[in-house]
Amino acid sequence: MSTEFDSHESNEMAGGATWTTSPNSEQLPRAVEPRQKQAIERLKERLEEDRVTRIALNFLDKFMGVHLKDGVIDWMDGRRMGMVGQEVVNFGSDSFLGLDRDPRVQAAIIEGMNEWGTHNGSSRAFGNIELCEEAERRLARWMGVEDTLIYPSVTLANIGLLPGLAGKRDLLVLDRKSHDSLQQSALIAAGNGAKVVYLDPCTGDSLAKVLRAEEYDGCVVVVDGIYSMTGEIPPLNDLDQVTRAHGGILYVDDAHGTALVGPKGRGAASLKLDSIDNALVVGSLSKAFSCMGAFVTCDSRLKRILKIRSSTFVFGGPVPPPYLAGICKVCDILESPEHDEMLRRLRQMVKQLTDGIRAMGLTACGGEAAIVGVTIGDIEQTFKAGKALFDRGYYVQSATYPAVPIMSGLLRIQVNANHTPENITGLLEALAALKSEFGLVKR
Ligand SMILES: Cc1ncc(COP(=O)(O)O)c(C=O)c1O
Repeated sequence: MSTEFDSHESNEMAGGATWTTSPNSEQLPRAVEPRQKQAIERLKERLEEDRVTRIALNFLDKFMGVHLKDGVIDWMDGRRMGMVGQEVVNFGSDSFLGLDRDPRVQAAIIEGMNEWGTHNGSSRAFGNIELCEEAERRLARWMGVEDTLIYPSVTLANIGLLPGLAGKRDLLVLDRKSHDSLQQSALIAAGNGAKVVYLDPCTGDSLAKVLRAEEYDGCVVVVDGIYSMTGEIPPLNDLDQVTRAHGGILYVDDAHGTALVGPKGRGAASLKLDSIDNALVVGSLSKAFSCMGAFVTCDSRLKRILKIRSSTFVFGGPVPPPYLAGICKVCDILESPEHDEMLRRLRQMVKQLTDGIRAMGLTACGGEAAIVGVTIGDIEQTFKAGKALFDRGYYVQSATYPAVPIMSGLLRIQVNANHTPENITGLLEALAALKSEFGLVKR
């Protein structure tokens, strides 16, 4: 009996491409038809005409020799690494506690893989593995909350949560400076009918004005715990007080505060708020945790609801088991006195760095977390300053528009617990040389 797949005839596909099928042979595409090729060329031209794409592509061409964003890392040894043929100290890593190189975390990840395999291969909406429940319990215990819900990344947590928390007749108030994943999530919520209002500046007073003026059923106020480029903390306590007074909920994306800031490293929200019981705190499991994923604090009743209302939870895959095992191991470390010692060392190095930069007469932003921003200003200067430090053996990130406002380019320095005071001294010497070479002034 013949089927349509036994046919020797060609099947026309969308765009004019054709496939030849014959028994016992793989299906091979014929050469792409001119009509389809033209469509692909037209697509590329149309995308290149977009203003933002055009500016970004011009950037890449103009700063080819000095922007290091495509730099491939050849090897790593602690915080030393090889990049485009040069050995440098890496001050661009989010693995703030140095746990990416910790043998206990590495061994736990391997054991997790041996026991559970590389992936459990289905959305958690279809089922769960015990290791995931355990990781959520361990995170809740460390954070001092009733429960947590894990997502595969902070971006996927935000995209799943915000549209799930605010719909028709609800209000989302969003710090204009908050992370891009929150901005994108708010657009989805707006598409579903929520009203989105942006706060700029993000202060208790500006929030109070918005909340007095708007009518809404539910209200969620969304901020970063730590601004990811400058390392600064928004006025979380003021925002929380105003939010509570208007019956709303504060949502804090604490990606860069998790395991680093505040009591037991529970994050910027735990540091600044009287209590996080009336807030939703999202933590990262990829940055200081050096594993993969994110979690949101909740209680068991809210967790049931979030599992139903978060589209990325329902329609996406889970954190793979090896990383869940790694997360449990990191929780062991966070609940031990060793964590206090790591934080003490880290905070001392951050202070050494910020004190040194300020003593040079330059602006050091941040300092409460492990990110320190040195303001440069102009985009070209910022790229060149990053490259000059690189040439002296220190890799930091040159953060420019759109990650920061257009003339507020900065050197983003991430201090890690496995840096040494000597690394910081060396970086400060390189910054001092840069200051005189570039004529940097306080901005
Ligand atoms: C505040 C904030 N939220 C979200 C993210 C994205 O996190 P993920 O890589 O887990 O999606 C980042 C990344 O740096 C961030 O700084």
